[in-house]
Amino acid sequence: MSVYSPIVAHRGMSSLAPENTIAAFAACVEHGVASFEFDVDIMGDGTLIVIHDNTLDRTTTGTGGYYDKSFSDLRRLDAGAWFSPTYRFERVPELASVIELMNRTGLDANLEIKPSTSGHEMRQSLVEGVAVSLRELNSERGIIISSFDPQLLAGVKEHAPHIPRACLFDWQDGPELEQVDSWIDIARHLDARAIHPGESRLTRQAVQRMLEAGFEVNVWTVNDLHRAAELAEWGVHSVITDVAQDFPAESRAARPFA
Ligand code: G3P
Ligand code: CA
Repeated sequence: MSVYSPIVAHRGMSSLAPENTIAAFAACVEHGVASFEFDVDIMGDGTLIVIHDNTLDRTTTGTGGYYDKSFSDLRRLDAGAWFSPTYRFERVPELASVIELMNRTGLDANLEIKPSTSGHEMRQSLVEGVAVSLRELNSERGIIISSFDPQLLAGVKEHAPHIPRACLFDWQDGPELEQVDSWIDIARHLDARAIHPGESRLTRQAVQRMLEAGFEVNVWTVNDLHRAAELAEWGVHSVITDVAQDFPAESRAARPFA
């Protein structure tokens, strides 16, 4: 048995290629990584796009937000040059292109719906659009939808009840176990399969409490292999990492969302 849990490539192979691009996801195949994580938000024209930030500045040649822009505005922008000249001409992908890649390559994924600040109607369209888009995903592909935003996950439960859900949480001030108990309440309410806690203050007892409540535990973002081994020993289901290439082949090939 491996000393590591299955691993998930955070925003694709994000230390080798520009995050949340087709190049970063395709690199999973080259490195024998079976699962990746990616971020989805909505544009002004309703196109679902794969991007982490709610502005274009950090990862593209564009500036400002995209809630008032259309996909044709985005097509002109470079989403790879900021990372390295090798990746200039990468584009911000549509969700549909990532689903097509999953079907073509056999990769599984954790789709994170961003806590979109686009407004009530666009947030509804975001959730409904994700549900509709995933009808194109081959049934053999493993998929889980996560979000920091319980309202969006409630929408996923309504529009795509068959797709497993995961509640994402980061630590706030205050005792850890009290926070874990409130996470468990929220996850129960949403009929979630998994809880995705931030790594920083996670303890054995906290993991045990989530596991005993019946949830899978997928931890982000774990780039230290000693910490990853400790989390595996505590029973976590998978770890989401920026350095998937550093883990043994067995952990890379495992499929936590199958
Ligand atoms: O899904 C885990 C992790 O991606 C959540 O944080 O900010 O990297 O999207 P963030
Ligand atoms: Ca994410």
